[in-house]
Amino acid sequence: MTDRKEIATTPFDGQKPGTSGLRKKVKVFQQPHYLENFVQAIFDTQSVLNNGCLVVGGDGRFYNREAIQIILRIAAANGVATALVGRGGILSTPAVSCVIRKYHAQGGIVLSASHNPGGADEDFGIKFNVASGGPAPEIVTDDIFVRTRSIDRYFTIAAAPLDLDLLGEYQLGDMKVQVIDSVADYAELMASLFNFDAIRQLFESGAFRMRFDAMHAVTGPYAVEILENILGAEPGTVINGIPLEDFGGGHPDPNLVHAHELVALAHGSDGVDFAAASDGDGDRNMILGNDFFVTPSDSLAVLAANAHLVPGYHQGIAGIARSMPTSQAADRVAAALGVDCYETPTGWKFFGNLLDAGRITLCGEESFGTGSHHVREKDGLWAVLFWLNLLAIKRQSVGAIVREHWQRFGRNYYTRHDYEAINSTAADGLMHHLHTLLPTLPQRVFGNYTVAYADDFCYVDPIDASMSTGQGIRIGFTDGSRIVFRLSGTGTEGATLRIYIEQYEPDATRHERPVQDALQPLITIARELAQIEARTERTAPTVIT
Ligand code: G6P
Ligand code: ZN
Repeated sequence: MTDRKEIATTPFDGQKPGTSGLRKKVKVFQQPHYLENFVQAIFDTQSVLNNGCLVVGGDGRFYNREAIQIILRIAAANGVATALVGRGGILSTPAVSCVIRKYHAQGGIVLSASHNPGGADEDFGIKFNVASGGPAPEIVTDDIFVRTRSIDRYFTIAAAPLDLDLLGEYQLGDMKVQVIDSVADYAELMASLFNFDAIRQLFESGAFRMRFDAMHAVTGPYAVEILENILGAEPGTVINGIPLEDFGGGHPDPNLVHAHELVALAHGSDGVDFAAASDGDGDRNMILGNDFFVTPSDSLAVLAANAHLVPGYHQGIAGIARSMPTSQAADRVAAALGVDCYETPTGWKFFGNLLDAGRITLCGEESFGTGSHHVREKDGLWAVLFWLNLLAIKRQSVGAIVREHWQRFGRNYYTRHDYEAINSTAADGLMHHLHTLLPTLPQRVFGNYTVAYADDFCYVDPIDASMSTGQGIRIGFTDGSRIVFRLSGTGTEGATLRIYIEQYEPDATRHERPVQDALQPLITIARELAQIEARTERTAPTVIT
């Protein structure tokens, strides 16, 4: 093989991929051989890539370009036949999934640390996706990890960096590299799912204004092309649309705290009708109407109830899945539609088997992730276009659509209280304490609430029968209310305790209460049961969503 070099190396500790791949500080990745070892471990374990096609792209954060050049040289030295790379090294996470599926690639490498800040002193990440377009299942990531522990060499080739800013075909050793338009394939997929004509008419009507906050992250080019160029939204609809290596110093996480600029734009009589945001790598979404925040749990339920209005889903949906802590609003829609609703552990990967088997069409999580069978990642812009399609057909405000939904199905009041960066030992002690309480809880009465069941959530995958235990403590009450406790799997400092609280309210005259007021009795029960103050020394959560 042309110019192939074998480089001796030694293993690094801690190259175990987490929920969303290997995430570390940029400085860790910049150590000599660190990235190379991990990438070689992918090729050493994934023989399908030999002579195959590999998709490579990232969210544009600091170190994205250098990492791609390194990966391409290693891929060329390991017998990959073709690499498809997004122009400028840019591909959103759902776009990688779309491109893998469209071109029947054998896998993909996504460079991102999602919503974590970017920059020389911030985070970087690498994730391997398989031929279905989804994140590698644990059995694959375990193999890769095992390989990183014994790796003693990697292969690369001597070659100058490629110009990734120019579309076209290049030769790198024996490998063909195609620099592809980052947006085109994804935009074409979106056009096949949604009623673009109706959305265009909505924008042309002049009676509707929206803002999309790309947060200086990867969705900028996608949103400008699709919303402004293809759908005719007024120029300036997309704000913070230029991807920057440090995301402009911001925190590219679409929630009410980090997307505050957008929240202000959707406020009051001068405010826009619809506002949305996505995260660093384009898989999360936040949906706002004028002075109206749609919780991700409600968003999933509304999309499911109205899917028949959208061309890609007009024949109906096969089923819905939601992560366990996500509110049960979607369950009520599934029941009304007569389709199954699956409750999975937190983490998008748990939807993969259900999607592949055709059991579900839509899925979502309370953590601002929504998606469908069109790709195998959650998809931020997809959710925004789904909402636009509904707004264009219904010609109602976001708030009116959600209120009507509550009238029909009842409202699942919902909140999440996070206690971030608490002492890990204290957090483990708190969860242990809750475990010991579990058998004593059923039938116990707390004020107006009677416990119906209390357990530690365990999931048996209906397709491959794999079992995931210890996925969070659930306390369910006879009226359908729930309190869920779990420790975050993505935090970086100490432990983060998440408490999810939900109460079902069928009475439409009681749908306009402030969420924290409506849930106050359950919030108090949760704090007392878990002995939060005594165990964490915190009197209040750090974040409420
Ligand atoms: C990532 C995953 C999501 C998951 C979320 C949960 O964003 O992609 O699928 O819902 O993490 O994070 P947590 O911190 O609650 O474990
Ligand atoms: Zn993300």
